[in-house]
Amino acid sequence: MTGNNVAARDGFSSKFGVVAAAAGSAVGLGNIWRFPYVAGENGGGAFLLIYLGFILTIGVSVMLAEFIIGRRSQSNALGAFKKLAPSSLWWLVGVMGIIAAFVILAFYTTIAGWTLEYLFQAIGNGFSAKNAAEISGMFDSFQHSTARPLIWQLLFMGLTAAVILGGVQKGIEKYTKLLMPMLVLLIVIMCVRSVTLDGAGEGLKFLFKPDFSKITGNVVLEALGQAFFSMSIGMGALITYGSYVQKDNRLPSTTFQIALADTGIAILAGVMIFPAVFAFGVQPDAGTGLVFQVLPIIFQQMPGGYIFGVFFFLLLTVAALTSTISLLEVVVAWAIEELKMTRRKATILFAAAISVLGVLATLSFSELSEFKLFGKTIFDNLDWLSANLLLPLGGVFIVIFLGWILGPKIIADEVTNQGTIKMKLLKIFIFILRYLAPIAILLVFLNGIGVFGGN
Ligand code: PHE
Repeated sequence: MTGNNVAARDGFSSKFGVVAAAAGSAVGLGNIWRFPYVAGENGGGAFLLIYLGFILTIGVSVMLAEFIIGRRSQSNALGAFKKLAPSSLWWLVGVMGIIAAFVILAFYTTIAGWTLEYLFQAIGNGFSAKNAAEISGMFDSFQHSTARPLIWQLLFMGLTAAVILGGVQKGIEKYTKLLMPMLVLLIVIMCVRSVTLDGAGEGLKFLFKPDFSKITGNVVLEALGQAFFSMSIGMGALITYGSYVQKDNRLPSTTFQIALADTGIAILAGVMIFPAVFAFGVQPDAGTGLVFQVLPIIFQQMPGGYIFGVFFFLLLTVAALTSTISLLEVVVAWAIEELKMTRRKATILFAAAISVLGVLATLSFSELSEFKLFGKTIFDNLDWLSANLLLPLGGVFIVIFLGWILGPKIIADEVTNQGTIKMKLLKIFIFILRYLAPIAILLVFLNGIGVFGGN
């Protein structure tokens, strides 16, 4: 298959396009909303350390594995397994990925909707002259209202569907080249403001000074889940994107670049949030609302805060959009290639179906806040189920599939581009795929849910 055919299959114009799209998938609310809230709930520094350890070993390996499977198969997340292992049950891994995409989109669009509300508020100068308690109050009353969060959520889903309908993602490349660096710059500026607040030191200590007494099986599982979620791995989003990657792309270095950008932005988000959390007396374990309670107060304390606020929420919206696009594309690429639907029909049908579950996720903060399963709201269940179960389990199957079924010869071929480049860590990569990752993920999961006692 030539590069031209690859382009014909999807419409990514240049080599950079798909790498940019993968980075756009990884960087999103996972970094800026989920990382701070989960790190805050799980003790800060020790969590960060474990999270980084998982990214460097398991995370980059699963990401590279997905790119390899995608490029090798030239197929969507489910078709890839069918094509590479015909007459076997491996396609079920693809099914799991499609379910995961479904679940993640449902609750992700809730938070993306909150982002739109905050953009709207920022534009209308709605945060000005309010103190921390009032900002928190604003968040609570918005969250508990019924219609508004739903309207924003559906609007966001509509935006995602509109991009997916337009063929693929021509705009994403421009976003990643221009808007993502701008987002990083804004975050850096906000970090400076945050760390120079009175009392900021406590926040930095919380984030960077590990308190090992905080580590429990659950904390380790949360760190693993966050690594998978943030890197967009374990469900085939990157198999789907990998299928559009050209033959001469150096997959290992592409993987490292994306992992570095993703992790760097998460850490920056932590530096932006936690000093302010402590300076303003917010509880670090405030949960899903953490960044929405803190960010507006940071803007208030900055010269030019109005304009920073507007741009920040605008860029965050775009970052969320490039992630939801990758999620919906998993489902749509599958429906087009396997169910032989038109792109239009697949997009409309699945965006609508996912929205039904999405509405339940959003209502978890209002009408359905008392409706609990396993002691958690619908939203929390979807969040937990996808990050801590579906993605890591998908990861186990992906590494086993590449490590054992496709095997070392194909792996070597793909990472060295048929022997034309070298990969120093090839042996370690294969060892992680075959042994370390599957065993570690399973142990972390079982320990996290308390199978070995403790917690
Ligand atoms: N990684 C994305 C984020 O950080 C979320 C995502 C998860 C996207 C899984 C695709 C697949 O926002």
